[in-house]
Amino acid sequence: MRRGFTSTEMPETKSIAVLLSGRGSNFESLLKASRTDALGGTVSLVIANRPGAGGLEIAQNAGIATALIDHKRYASREAFDRDLAAAIETASPDLVVLAGFMRILTPEFVARFENRLMNIHPSLLPLYPGLNTHQRALDNGDTHAGATVHYVNGELDGGPPVLQAKVPVHPDDDAASLAARVLRVEHQIYPEAVNWHLTGRLSFEDGVLHKDRQPVPLAGCLWDGDA
Ligand code: GRF
Repeated sequence: MRRGFTSTEMPETKSIAVLLSGRGSNFESLLKASRTDALGGTVSLVIANRPGAGGLEIAQNAGIATALIDHKRYASREAFDRDLAAAIETASPDLVVLAGFMRILTPEFVARFENRLMNIHPSLLPLYPGLNTHQRALDNGDTHAGATVHYVNGELDGGPPVLQAKVPVHPDDDAASLAARVLRVEHQIYPEAVNWHLTGRLSFEDGVLHKDRQPVPLAGCLWDGDA
């Protein structure tokens, strides 16, 4: 039987914390989606590890809480990650979203946020984990490139893919033109995948990622929007 909510049992608003290092265009796409309710929640905190990261300014202009935790001030990766985790916990987010966060995270950090830590990577994973993805796709003569949203585990860009988008590689592409085409689809698939998490459509059953109770293909669900 359905019934209304009293004021003390309103469904809580879900929220995400975003970690970034640079310009923050993916963060901005998440922010835009949150304003139209397409995200399934709000952005409650943005943390950067680099002073001057463009994403910090976007957040400040939007009135979102920010923190700068400069990794250069830390003697060890562990100490940095401990402070990072403590800062995240102040916002109690439902999901931690890496959006161009250029730091390798310690196993302790990854374990602490297990199954609630997402990343976007500009390649068709499992192809090209790591850096220079677009140049590597061009060097290999690939006909398609793309981006993948995945949960983060202890392996670099190796956690379970959630959603993947493909774009064509054009004969006259260089790394910059291909990156721009891929970035456009990044801005569409990241809000979608975050929405799936926040609205409870993703689950791990016996360690296998499911969406709407169906196993997710090994490369993630294929995004069928327009490239
Ligand atoms: C994106 O290409 C993302 O896939 C990668 O880092 C880049 C971040 O760009 N992980 P932006 O800061 O979101 O504009």
